[in-house]
Parts: sequence; structure tokens; C-alpha cells
Amino acid sequence: MKYLITGGAGFIGSHLADALVARGDSVVILDNLSTGNSHNIEELIGNPSVSFFNGSILDRDLVDQLVAGVDHVLHLAAAVGVFNIVDKPLESLRINLNGTENVLDACDRFSKPVLIASSSEIYGKNGGGPLNEESDRIVGSPLKSRWSYSEAKAIDESLGYFYFAEKSLAVRIVRFFNTVGPRQVGSYGMVLPRFVAAALKGEPLDVYGTGEQSRCFCHVADAVAGLLSVIDSESTIGQVYNIGSDREISIGDLAKLVIAQTHSASVVAHKSYEDAYGAGFEDMQRRIPDITKIKAATGWAPTRSLETIIDDIAGYVQHAGL
Ligand SMILES: NC(=O)c1ccc[n+]([C@@H]2O[C@H](COP(=O)([O-])OP(=O)(O)OC[C@H]3O[C@@H](n4cnc5c(N)ncnc54)[C@H](O)[C@@H]3O)[C@@H](O)[C@H]2O)c1
Repeated sequence: MKYLITGGAGFIGSHLADALVARGDSVVILDNLSTGNSHNIEELIGNPSVSFFNGSILDRDLVDQLVAGVDHVLHLAAAVGVFNIVDKPLESLRINLNGTENVLDACDRFSKPVLIASSSEIYGKNGGGPLNEESDRIVGSPLKSRWSYSEAKAIDESLGYFYFAEKSLAVRIVRFFNTVGPRQVGSYGMVLPRFVAAALKGEPLDVYGTGEQSRCFCHVADAVAGLLSVIDSESTIGQVYNIGSDREISIGDLAKLVIAQTHSASVVAHKSYEDAYGAGFEDMQRRIPDITKIKAATGWAPTRSLETIIDDIAGYVQHAGL
């Protein structure tokens, strides 16, 4: 199979490209290297089954040309990261809305199956128990840039779903919860690479807010295996699946675990959300995925522990000299 991966030089996309090539598939990567990095795919470049295009999903002609030439499209390109979204809300919205529409429209015209990478951010502030695919979205004002990513990803899902429902396009959707591992960068507000890099340098680990807010972290290799299990199944067409780990940990405890696991002399420091992201920032207390649906459909479940994740990120940070 020949796959187009939009955002294939990014964190998840590059691991996905590695996994597809390792199983014998061909990969075409479209990425504008905004948050992605050519280092992520340097081992793939030169491989005859891989080609890379430095361009944007906003370029309709390029998207058409690349979609026409493959068997299947995996759409991961997006403007991501809290700092990015808050700093450049307009550009982020255009990429996440118009870019996805370009990809879906091309897939429809060339009849190519497509997977859309969505996000647990669509649930917004819904901090109840484990969130299943039917759980409600609770989001703040559309005028707050914080929520524009959630809004755009939700519209992406609706667009994808109605291309399936009205036009019979083979669309699959996955909602990644906090996905972590080597190659993720901390500079856009991702907590775990930021903590690991600080711990390795002996610098304070800045916990935003009380630190009682909790998250679940899934190793990128597990997340990629989950995505592959979805695209390899016929029964997943027209469906949405949560992909994440269901081990919950508070951010305060995560900071302590990172310090212990990396044998660091760092201390935990506290910073207000306001100081970190500016006035009026809202965050959710808990975000836990219910992964019953994907387990039942494909048998997938994450296998790697949080300690393994921290070790892998630390190894990467040291190797990359970050
Ligand atoms: N990492 C997570 O925890 C997480 C959680 C939920 C959803 N996701 C989703 O997974 C996907 C991949 O995210 P990631 O964590 O690998 O982040 P990432 O920033 O590493 O990947 C996004 C990629 O898209 C590329 N890109 C951005 N704008 C583009 C454009 N206009 N044209 C072409 N390429 C463009 C970037 O350069 C980058 O390589 C995204 O759709 C994201 O919303 C990730």
C-alpha cells in the first residue's frame, strides 16, 4: 500500500511513517516543517519507498497531486500546541479547518480512504470520568483562542463524518489523548518533554496551577499501533475511536516521578496558568479516555508503562542534545 501522511515529519507522523515502512508499505510525506522537523525523517529519506514534499495542506494543487498518487491518506498535519494556538489563532484555524477540507475534498474526488487525526481536546472542559466517544463537549467562548483548536478539530470530525455519511467516502477518525515519546518537543507547551528536559538539566520543573489536574500519557509507539489497528480493519469505516492510555496521574505526581526516574536533583516549582499562558486561560481538571470501543473493535490496548515512556524521552533528549 502507498500512504500519504500529512504532517509526516511531525512527532506522531514520523513514527507512523517508520512503522509503515517497517512493514513494507510506501510512504509519501507532506509537511511544511512548521512544528515538524526533517531530523525526524532523516533515516527514511533516501529509502526508495519514501518521498517527502515540503509544502502545505493549504496548497490545493499539491494536495490534489499527492492524494491522486496514493492508495490511502492519513491526515495528521495540524497547527498544534497550546502556545502555537494562543499565539497564532487565525493561522491555526485556517490550517486546521481549510487544510482538512482540502484533504477531504481531494480524497472524495479521487475516492481515497482517509483517516483524520482528531484530539481529546474536542471534549473541552468535560472533566468527568473516563470520556467515551459519545461524551459531551464542554467548551468555553469561541472568542478565546484556547478553544479554537477544540472547535476546529470538532468541525474536522464533522466534515469527515459527513463525507462518509453523505458521499460514502471511507473516512475513519481517531482521537488521540496525550501522546508522548521520543521526538516530541516541549517548546509548544507539551508537559512531559518539558519536564524531562528540565530534570536532565537539573532545572526546576514548572507545574502550572495546583498540579492536581490529571492526565493519562500514551507512548507514541502504542498510539501508532492503535492507529494502524484502525486503518487495517474494514469495520472501522465511518467510526471514531479514542486512542490513549487509561493510567491517570496528576501533573504534580508526574513531576515527582520524572525527577525520581531520571535521578535528578531538580525541584518542583509552581507557576500560575496566567504566567504560563496569559490572562483568562482555562484548563480541565481531568482527561481520561474510555478505550472500550477500540479494544472491542480491533483488540488494541496500550502496553508501555509511564516509566518506560520517561526513559525513552530521556534517552532521546540526551541523544538529541536538547
Ligand atoms: N501529540 C498529542 O498528544 C496529540 C493529541 C491529540 C491530537 N494530536 C493530533 O495528532 C496530529 C499530529 O500531532 P503531533 O503531536 O505529531 O504534532 P506535530 O506538531 O509534531 O505534528 C503536526 C505536523 O503537521 C505539520 N504541519 C503543520 N501545519 C502544516 C501545514 N499547513 N501543511 C503541512 N504540514 C503542516 C507540522 O510541521 C508537523 O510536522 C495532529 O493532527 C494533532 O492535532 C496529537
